[in-house]
Amino acid sequence: MSEGRAWKSRPRVVLSVSDRLALGGALICSKALWVCNPPPASGLSRPASSPPFQGLGAAAHEDSALSRRRSRDFKMRHTAPITGDQVKKFHEDGFLVLEGVFSPEECDTMMDAMKDIVAQMDVPLHCRTEFTTQEEEQLQAQGSADYFLTSGDKIRFFFEKGVFDKNGGFLVPKERSLNKVGHALHAYEPVFKQVTHSQNIQTVARSLGMAEPVVVQSMYIFKQPGFGGEVTPHQDATFLHTEQLGRVTGFWIALEDATEDNGCLWFIPGSHTSGITRRMVRTPAGSQPGTTFVGSEQRYEDGLFVAAPVRRGGLVLIHGEVVHKSELNTSDRSRHSYSFHVMDAQDTKWSTENWLQPTPELPFPALYV
Ligand code: FE2
Repeated sequence: MSEGRAWKSRPRVVLSVSDRLALGGALICSKALWVCNPPPASGLSRPASSPPFQGLGAAAHEDSALSRRRSRDFKMRHTAPITGDQVKKFHEDGFLVLEGVFSPEECDTMMDAMKDIVAQMDVPLHCRTEFTTQEEEQLQAQGSADYFLTSGDKIRFFFEKGVFDKNGGFLVPKERSLNKVGHALHAYEPVFKQVTHSQNIQTVARSLGMAEPVVVQSMYIFKQPGFGGEVTPHQDATFLHTEQLGRVTGFWIALEDATEDNGCLWFIPGSHTSGITRRMVRTPAGSQPGTTFVGSEQRYEDGLFVAAPVRRGGLVLIHGEVVHKSELNTSDRSRHSYSFHVMDAQDTKWSTENWLQPTPELPFPALYV
């Protein structure tokens, strides 16, 4: 990060409209934050075996057996997912599209596992937190809501705007109501845990030079047909801050074809080399909203972005500082994806100001197993 743009040199500011919109986008696609202090040693070990499945009904937790059974039958293939030239390209551009890393059957298994989770979803009224990119709602419903801020070690549900009636009933089929499910699928849902730690993923991480990668968060994004929300331009390091920078990488798996019509990712190539100008940090305990920004986001010309369409089964690698976005899904096709963020913990400090923190129930698990 360049000295002149270091976030610490900027005063704490009140959010502008555009800042909050950007926050909305980033929370949709990234949301993992680490702390500026090094995680405790226990924060890098395997998670505890008793997951807090809040947000799911009690029966759903027990019946995660569905996912466990599915996982036992889930024989993943191993490919040679990345070449030396592709690693070079990733470092040049700050992102990389790898086609065919996962098979159609593996994508089906992930989608079926999520269908099971959603079928068992029993969300209390007070937990029906809308997930939206609108600034005020973003901060109030996500940043400051305990439901969101304590979701790092749980499996919780975040909804599209306008899917509930005034009494909290679904206005659309519940499987069409969700924006995302997060943020601990990698720890508590066997299929997603298996994918996260799969040989292909580990091979990619090793090829990128990760010495001690740990998984900080994960999410399943639905990008519903017709109204799946946009994700405004942002850098993941704004929300997932480490010292030093350049230690966080997003792994984004397309479970369905991602095209310009249904909301594929867009990037500004090479934008990962100029540091960040903004951070989202927690406010003091008891404050409202629960998060705020330090610094301000830049404006980016639309013409700088290039689309990154990818077929089903493809893997998109996202550098923590590359500027990226996705558009509203205006098509009649969903764009499901499973993604997670990894931090190379070697010589890295995770910020205690990040919204997401390792917990006794779920330390950041090591990627290499
Ligand atoms: Fe992102």
